[in-house]
Amino acid sequence: MTDLQRPTEGQLGRLVVVGLGLIGGSFAKGMRAAGLFREVVGVDLDADSRRLAVELGVVDRSEADLALACQGADVIQLAVPILAMEKVLAQLAGLDLGQAVITDVGSAKGNLVRAARQAFGAMPPRFVPGHPIAGSEQSGVTAANPQLFRRHKVILTPVAETDPAALALVDHLWRALDADVEHMQVEHHDQVLAATSHLPHMLAYTLVDSLAKRNENLEIFRYAAGGFRDFTRIAGSDPLMWHDIFLANRDAVLQVLDDFRDDLDALRAAVVEGDGHYLLGVFTRARVAREHFSKILARRAYVDAMHSNNDLIFLAQPGGSVNGRIRVPGDKSISHRSIMLGSLAEGVTEVQGFLEGEDALATIQAFRDMGVVIEGPSKGRVTVHGVGLHGLKAPAGPLYMGNSGTSMRLLSGLLAAQPFDTTLTGDASLSKRPMNRVAKPLREMGAVIETGPEGRPPLTIRGGQKLVGMHYDMPMASAQVKSCLLLAGLYAAGETSVTEPAPTRDHTERMLRGFGYPVEVKGATAKVQSGHKLTATRIEVPADISSAAFFMVAASIAEGAELVLEHVGINPTRTGVIDILKLMGGDITLENEREVGGEPVADIRVRSAKLKGIDIPEDLVPLAIDEFPVLFIAAACAEGRTVLRGAEELRVKESDRIQVMADGLQTLGVKAEPTPDGIIIEGGPMGGGEVWAHGDHRIAMSFSVASLRAGAPIRIHDCANVATSFPNFLELSAQVGIRVAKEG
Ligand code: S3P
Repeated sequence: MTDLQRPTEGQLGRLVVVGLGLIGGSFAKGMRAAGLFREVVGVDLDADSRRLAVELGVVDRSEADLALACQGADVIQLAVPILAMEKVLAQLAGLDLGQAVITDVGSAKGNLVRAARQAFGAMPPRFVPGHPIAGSEQSGVTAANPQLFRRHKVILTPVAETDPAALALVDHLWRALDADVEHMQVEHHDQVLAATSHLPHMLAYTLVDSLAKRNENLEIFRYAAGGFRDFTRIAGSDPLMWHDIFLANRDAVLQVLDDFRDDLDALRAAVVEGDGHYLLGVFTRARVAREHFSKILARRAYVDAMHSNNDLIFLAQPGGSVNGRIRVPGDKSISHRSIMLGSLAEGVTEVQGFLEGEDALATIQAFRDMGVVIEGPSKGRVTVHGVGLHGLKAPAGPLYMGNSGTSMRLLSGLLAAQPFDTTLTGDASLSKRPMNRVAKPLREMGAVIETGPEGRPPLTIRGGQKLVGMHYDMPMASAQVKSCLLLAGLYAAGETSVTEPAPTRDHTERMLRGFGYPVEVKGATAKVQSGHKLTATRIEVPADISSAAFFMVAASIAEGAELVLEHVGINPTRTGVIDILKLMGGDITLENEREVGGEPVADIRVRSAKLKGIDIPEDLVPLAIDEFPVLFIAAACAEGRTVLRGAEELRVKESDRIQVMADGLQTLGVKAEPTPDGIIIEGGPMGGGEVWAHGDHRIAMSFSVASLRAGAPIRIHDCANVATSFPNFLELSAQVGIRVAKEG
């Protein structure tokens, strides 16, 4: 094994950087600072740049002669303008480069690989094409900045001939500068860059030039507001560099330009025809897509909290209190369904009180991807322009469900009956959750669904199948499975009925009726027939009892607490948490009971109480299925022992909630013994410590509430997914007096 095959061991000999501009200079300076090479040599045609590079400590020495500099080099970094690469490559091809690894920083790769093949006769195996996506308003060696590539993407585009050891070395060099290195195919790189960088530059240059040409006195620029300035900022970039890039990346630029022109023509036609629906569709989709990108770039929850190394930590301090009146955000289950049924309805559905959490947003995004125009959400208002039961369109790519099991399971039912194929993907947590519970009965109805190993996501659903209604006896009490089959039943020939082993939330049945779709419910069986339609309606989403539950427990366990939770949904299939807390001695009263849009709501008053341990009645388990993590905190604060049985479903939620809660409680000094289908908790004093939420929103919030009775601070790791169901949890906690905040 040569030195180069062991890139992390020992110091390398000489690095030669050809071209001492901003990028080359920054690379050289960064490499010097990292101390990976014994010597860093710069080559440039310009004498001033050579001199300055030495004076500024960018390189150890400078050379004017390429051949001289490259003799005995270990790595040669080409950082000359892209159209000058050809010439440099031709010169290099005439030299004996020994075992030197060559790499470059050009922003178009197809052209460079072609040039290298031509110069060398074949692609040299030790040539690793690369492209750092970083820059600055300044240019030249004086702007060289060793930090320039920190947390910026560097794309390496190895080809079939590339020597893996050379690739590993170049990868290692960039990582030493703290860059995020990715490997990509040459063609893919060029297409991606054409779309995300080259096209925007072309548009900015053209717009400014076009307006300037047509307005001779340039009066128009006097009115140039922020929008124009923002949009055209990049037209201030280096013209020569961009001239080179467009010529170098010709094919990919032309392809993306043609696609864009088609879209622009369609927008033009919509303006001509006064097609406001089309315009609204483009604008709402674009606006959300843009937000979505910013979240991805900011590494927020929606991306993938489990894979992101960006650990959001909540620090919960003891000594908090719980007082006041609050309204927690809208119900997650109802929010999902309002988008699904609103999209499939005829007409425009107005939703109020919508939960603007990542899970419900994933559902909105999925329907937008299938062509539905959805305005909002803004302050809980969403307007869904329904397309009817048969109006969805094939999405361009996989539908990403983030952390949301409800989105994936419910959508699989209605997608099984569409004329097009779809793929449903999710984050790391969702990718571990069981999907056979929906795939199996859907297949019995005639659906064609592929799952990942062991019935996990992704799901690939084949369109164009004729579904046939059936009766299904659910093996587990699951509202998601029931809802999935009822939604498939809207399309299946004849009748579809589902019997549940225990009552589960019935929001789908209620909301279908709200949209004028007949649903027959007799005992434990719900039944639909295809052939009817959904008619748009108004939906007022009540506050989510599952979110309110954190504050019900908080007010119960905190000393001297009194809290009113306003406008909470108290659908009898969801109120298990109230029943369980009352059995434990909780002081909870319902006030102002009323019905809003087919769902019962009330204000819930909770006062502190001396809780006692109980055996939780098994029939309450499905009615409190999402509230157990925080009920375990109540149990830890209660006098005596609490026993939960018949709750194995908790092991397949966003995390294994039995194990994860038991681990956390034990860390806090609470006796908590997990059992296969539940847990046994002995109430007692609680300390502080470090606990892990495992990306599970409800675990993170439960341990935040625990701080009210903890003897020391609780540090909760992996809390980013709180944004999936309760985006303003920290604000409301602070408002009532719970001392929990993001660390740092
Ligand atoms: C939900 C049903 C429940 C619940 C989930 C939301 C729904 O899941 O845990 O948070 O909206 O239908 P299961 O039906 O799988 O128990």
